[in-house]
Amino acid sequence: MSNYITICEVGTRDGFQIEPEFIPTDLKIEAVNRLSATGIPRIEVTSFVHPKVVPQLRDAEEVMARIECRSGTVYAALVPNDKGAQRAIDAGVDKIHTVLSASESHNLANVNMTVAESLARLEAVARVAHEASVPLQGGISCSFGCPFEVDVPLKNLEAIVARLVDFGFQAIGLADTTGMANPAQVRRTLEYLMPKFPGMEWTLHTHNTRAMAIPNILAAVECGVRHLDSSIGGLGGCPFAPGATGNVCTEDLVHCLHAMGYETGIDLDALVEVSKRVQEIIGRELPGQVMKAGQWNRRYQVPHAVEERLAALAAAS
Ligand code: COA
Ligand code: ZN
Repeated sequence: MSNYITICEVGTRDGFQIEPEFIPTDLKIEAVNRLSATGIPRIEVTSFVHPKVVPQLRDAEEVMARIECRSGTVYAALVPNDKGAQRAIDAGVDKIHTVLSASESHNLANVNMTVAESLARLEAVARVAHEASVPLQGGISCSFGCPFEVDVPLKNLEAIVARLVDFGFQAIGLADTTGMANPAQVRRTLEYLMPKFPGMEWTLHTHNTRAMAIPNILAAVECGVRHLDSSIGGLGGCPFAPGATGNVCTEDLVHCLHAMGYETGIDLDALVEVSKRVQEIIGRELPGQVMKAGQWNRRYQVPHAVEERLAALAAAS
């Protein structure tokens, strides 16, 4: 089993979409460029959705046009339908991430479509993407629970994945949109789904709403998942899911994975600096903890009295 974990940074999409103030386009571009410079292999830059529905990301085309594309970073965008897919392809994305919800109520609230209508639109997305040879990843919101319906049956999730596979999707993102999942459930879900869809690339997309994101991720990693979404500083939330708060924080996740011996290809010190800059851009304190506490191996100065005692012990031995 590989020791390498691929992180996809989603803060400039999942995070910036929910900020009350419009973040100026230049600052969005700066954030993307700084993130890619840390070695992050994938960035979900923005979304091509209806600009009246998510006005914060109405500058998606301009952001895509003006970011510096680093070789080695895959620049993706989120789309709900074929109109969004065409816009994303015209804007030059490397990859399309689609969105639909495993729960009927959340799907209606989020994209104004039933699950069946969304699946029909995603079939059209797949046609547009295949035509342009752009790879696809199918994100499934509320995979582990819905704020309106609470339980989301595993059978529904399986049926949606099966349809996406029929459309040619080779990557699936299971999203815990409002932080309802627990590690036992993540394991149960993956142990159920993974053998049914061999060769599928699975991503776990977590929100830390109930402080369970990292435990959930570790459960997924133990099951063999090697692709994770996260947000710089812990930005994030869904405007159409009550109670949704930030994603798992990228630098806290990378810190945890590196401490455990996993590799991500990301420069953690640089990432912490980017998080501090994003905090300035947002203008409020972000939930990220490593940027406040430092890394696990941070060494503090020993108090003088303790130093004297240690010296005395050393002299006596
Ligand atoms: N980008 C821009 N415009 C779009 C669009 C897209 N991806 N999809 C549809 N439109 C336009 C249509 O062209 C149409 O325009 P017109 O009125 O000028 O003809 C109009 O929107 C209505 O189209 P319709 O298909 O009926 O869309 P809708 O009003 O039912 O909205 C979505 C459906 C999916 C476009 C909208 O709900 C949406 O953008 N949701 C995204 C939610 C989101 O981003 N949530 C957070 C991420 S999880
Ligand atoms: Zn999310």
